[in-house]
Amino acid sequence: MVNDQLTKVRCDVLVIGSGIAGTYAASVAAESGADVLLLTKTRLMSGSTQWAQGGIAFPLDTSDVELHLRDTLVAGRGLTDSTTAESLISESFIHLEKLEEKGVVFDLELGLEGGHSKARVKHVGGDRTGYFVLDVLQKTMPERVLCYENTVAYKLLVRNGTVFGALGFNADRPDQRIEVVARATILATGGSGQLFKVTTNPRESTGDGFLLAYHSGAELRDIELIQFHPTALHDGTLISEACRGEGARLVDGHGHPFMSEYDPDEELAPRDVVSRAISDQLARGHDTFLDLTPITNFSEKFPYIARKLKTLGLDQHHDRIPIAPAAHYFMGGISTSPFGSTSLSRLYCAGEVASTTFHGANRLASNSLLEGLVMGHRAAISALDAPPVKFHTLDAWDANTPLQIPNQDLDSIKELAHKYLNSTRDSEGLLQTLQLLANRDLYTLEIDKTTYEVANLFALARLVAKGALEREESRGGHYRRDFPNPSPTAYHVLQSLGQDPQREPVSG
Ligand code: FAD
Ligand code: SIN
Repeated sequence: MVNDQLTKVRCDVLVIGSGIAGTYAASVAAESGADVLLLTKTRLMSGSTQWAQGGIAFPLDTSDVELHLRDTLVAGRGLTDSTTAESLISESFIHLEKLEEKGVVFDLELGLEGGHSKARVKHVGGDRTGYFVLDVLQKTMPERVLCYENTVAYKLLVRNGTVFGALGFNADRPDQRIEVVARATILATGGSGQLFKVTTNPRESTGDGFLLAYHSGAELRDIELIQFHPTALHDGTLISEACRGEGARLVDGHGHPFMSEYDPDEELAPRDVVSRAISDQLARGHDTFLDLTPITNFSEKFPYIARKLKTLGLDQHHDRIPIAPAAHYFMGGISTSPFGSTSLSRLYCAGEVASTTFHGANRLASNSLLEGLVMGHRAAISALDAPPVKFHTLDAWDANTPLQIPNQDLDSIKELAHKYLNSTRDSEGLLQTLQLLANRDLYTLEIDKTTYEVANLFALARLVAKGALEREESRGGHYRRDFPNPSPTAYHVLQSLGQDPQREPVSG
């Protein structure tokens, strides 16, 4: 559709996405005096953040930084950069204080989750951490932050490797477009669980940011590394790992616990191990369940999960809860420096959309919200350094560039991802995926939200398949039947527009 109505806006910092990373970045930039525009494609309260259950993994005190770092490195399976991880973990105290100053009241008890060698996860309202933290952040956002809800960013304004803002359209009236010119743009669009048939992620997690950046020339890193959460109901509803920290057991249909067959840490092994153990049980024809009966005062500790189970007619006191792994988190994303910058000038990233190498090949439980805060803050501070946009660079943005769309429907893309891009992969399935997704693109000016999201998921499926094919090893969330061991030298897989995937050996 040719732009009927184009609204033009200028600001200092454009933030795209209103989860923990985007909301925090917007507040930090505005508190430092910048005029900020926050675009979000549904409501402000959106994205994965509001559904976060377990909590935020803050080290207990400065003496716990080393152990928290060690747990992060062990979980990350050789792809976590230890300097980056140490600085993120050490800096998290400042943001814990900031959250408390803004009014977040954490529960007194600390949670224990898989891969953590001690209970250090701070939560709010039992299992409603994400919602309560985001609510406080949004209610305390400075007035200088102008929020546009229901606005889908669909193109970055890029000239010669520099990003000057973005184009968006109204989710209900796609003919209403907006052109935002900004000194700096922060992408905080979250992950893309919606690539898969069963996911813990909400409807809006369609990987838009990965493709916005990639199509503008930015580099992606390790996009094939996806975490499958071990314990989700068949509709994707998460049953927090913190339940296992409180004593819940993984059992088969006869009620026998099976995790001791796989790892000495049993239910509290890192997530990749637990997910794969469950997948193995399922592949062997055994149903898998979570036995919540060892947990005392379940409804007080996990009020949201208790309510959810009740609506599904399940009783945690008596029933075994049927669970299976579900797509949960993208470890990879847009290559992002520890300070939030990317390979494109004036483009910054924070949160799940960014690959900072903090999570390596397998994210440690509850480290994502920590990263969202620290990187949201750092991206905002870096963005403030971008110089003003010169007037002549504003000319001739084209709001009517055609959108490349697949002639494939969403269900068939999800079906392919479910079959070939899940945590167990092989070259035959990956090549077949690429063949089925090849050369079928059409172009359209008729942009709408659904078409745009399907186009992104289609493009993302190709990138995940290409990355997974290049990663000829098994590591963390990625298991190749045809390469069952980790490669002796760890490497990142980098992908940029028009180039074959490249391996980058991990230094040190
Ligand atoms: P999100 O919170 O996903 O926000 C993305 C935002 O971008 C949304 O506002 C969305 O509407 C917007 N957006 C997307 N595309 C566009 C576009 N094109 N234009 C405009 N806006 C756009 N992590 C933990 O550390 N601890 C936990 O306990 C925990 N529990 C979890 C439980 C669940 C059920 C899930 C799904 C995840 C959980 N995680 C947890 C992971 C964590 O919640 C996410 O990784 C994190 O919240 C991501 O934050 P974000 O700000 O990067 O993105
Ligand atoms: C959970 O509560 O199990 C989710 C925690 C996370 O994804 O970090």
